[in-house]
Amino acid sequence: MLLDVSGLTSGYGKVRIVNDVSLSVEEQEIVAVIGRNGVGKTTLMKTLVGLIRGLAGTVEFRSQDVTRMRAAERAQLGIGYVPQGRGIFARLSVVDNLRMGEQIGGRGKAPDYDRVHEYFPILKERQAQKAGSLSGGEQQQLAIGRVLVGHPELVLLDEPSEGIQPNIVQSIGEIIKRLRTEVGLTFVIVEQNLDLINAVADRCLVIDKGSIIARLDPAELADPEIARKYLAI
Ligand SMILES: Nc1ncnc2c1ncn2[C@@H]1O[C@H](COP(=O)(O)OP(=O)(O)O)[C@@H](O)[C@H]1O
Ligand SMILES: [Mg+2]
Repeated sequence: MLLDVSGLTSGYGKVRIVNDVSLSVEEQEIVAVIGRNGVGKTTLMKTLVGLIRGLAGTVEFRSQDVTRMRAAERAQLGIGYVPQGRGIFARLSVVDNLRMGEQIGGRGKAPDYDRVHEYFPILKERQAQKAGSLSGGEQQQLAIGRVLVGHPELVLLDEPSEGIQPNIVQSIGEIIKRLRTEVGLTFVIVEQNLDLINAVADRCLVIDKGSIIARLDPAELADPEIARKYLAI
């Protein structure tokens, strides 16, 4: 297993948001985490990457217990994170945003901008431009590209399709699948967009009130009843 989570519980102050979550992700899997707004998906991602301290439970990455490691240490081990809303620095250039990925990840490997540009050629064309002038879809590509600079093995994406045009969502889905097969990456993707889930996910974990309440095959979301029940649509 690449990622093994057991009994993970976390929240803000004394308020518990994530409750007793256990999940495992194998190498080169693409797992979707779905659920309505406010159920704790983002809080779960932040706990997995170490931005929020767990109150109980364990997180293992490649059989190494990372539960007590800070976010920077987890990133160095190969856990990449693209936050909801992308976390782009609007007033910095595209290339300066990408360079931030060097500080976050790395794992002792030289940053490979050729690879980033191979998957996201737009980031080369626009390298001198201010990141804030990019479209939503281009900013999402930049956010993913910035994580790739640090040679991650596991990438957590929080709502990559948010605020992006459907055709761009589709092309981001294609790139995620290529990164899985060509680079061997593993993805956990919080997502609400049915088309993207269907295009990329091997399986779905449904979160409600901070706990996993169902495990679905993405095809099951073709049933409008099920989609309505588990997604904010
Ligand atoms: N920084 C924070 N401080 C306190 N409560 C928060 C904070 N961030 C989120 N919450 C609360 O935690 C709950 C889950 O939020 P979140 O994990 O963002 O849900 P989701 O990503 O599923 O929409 C919500 O009730 C939200 O108001
Ligand atoms: Mg969220």
